[in-house]
Amino acid sequence: MTTPMRIKDRLFDLAWPVSYASYLYWVVKLRIKDLPGPLTLNFGCGQDRSRRVPGMLNLDGNPLCRPDMYLDFRRRLPFRNQTVSLIFSCHVLEHFYIYEVESILREWHRVLIPGGGARIVVPSLENAVDFYIRKDFQRNIAPSEDFSSVPAYAGRSTGRCFVGLMLDWDQHKCMFDFGFMAECLEDAGFRDVQQREYLDSQWFQREELARLEHSPGYSIYIEATK
Ligand SMILES: C[S@@+](CC[C@H](N)C(=O)[O-])C[C@H]1O[C@@H](n2cnc3c(N)ncnc32)[C@H](O)[C@@H]1O
Repeated sequence: MTTPMRIKDRLFDLAWPVSYASYLYWVVKLRIKDLPGPLTLNFGCGQDRSRRVPGMLNLDGNPLCRPDMYLDFRRRLPFRNQTVSLIFSCHVLEHFYIYEVESILREWHRVLIPGGGARIVVPSLENAVDFYIRKDFQRNIAPSEDFSSVPAYAGRSTGRCFVGLMLDWDQHKCMFDFGFMAECLEDAGFRDVQQREYLDSQWFQREELARLEHSPGYSIYIEATK
């Protein structure tokens, strides 16, 4: 069956000539003139403009998000080597197959300056398993994310909540705990991979993260250095 989410994937695939044209546009533009730095990327900014931070460059593959750069992350980034200072990404990497995640992280490593860093927020497999075993999704997750107002979750089984959260009704293609993400980051060349807390960062201000991040319980927060 072709579900709405699979249709979304197809649309991303069909739109590749447009996203490729945007990629070429940015390659040329960045060859002519670098953007004023230091560059901080919000990778997968989403549609909610209230969650954007001034000074960050917002990237997304959905034109409805009206990003600063319209790109399909499954392809090469237009930035030259070592031209980006920081990368932030919240609830994006789980939308890719693992081989795509690995190539995305290699691209991040390529474009980051030495000493530059990446902060990644993804749904926490470990927390979800813990909530599943204790059967307390509603208490632990619903209050912070207000999932109780989403009909798919309200009063439904623990298994449904687990699958809904971790697979997001077939939008997600991967699940991560800290160890797995750390392994992917190290394989891509990153070092000093750390698990951090909500709003706690070596690079970003708390006020910036309060806008960008999903609340704790549901997510893990990871930082890694090039
Ligand atoms: C769940 S949203 C996260 C938005 C925001 N960061 C947040 O935390 O609310 C995932 C974002 O990733 C983007 N995305 C998914 N697949 C993509 C792809 N192949 N290329 C570029 N962006 C993609 C979607 O368009 C969407 O805006």
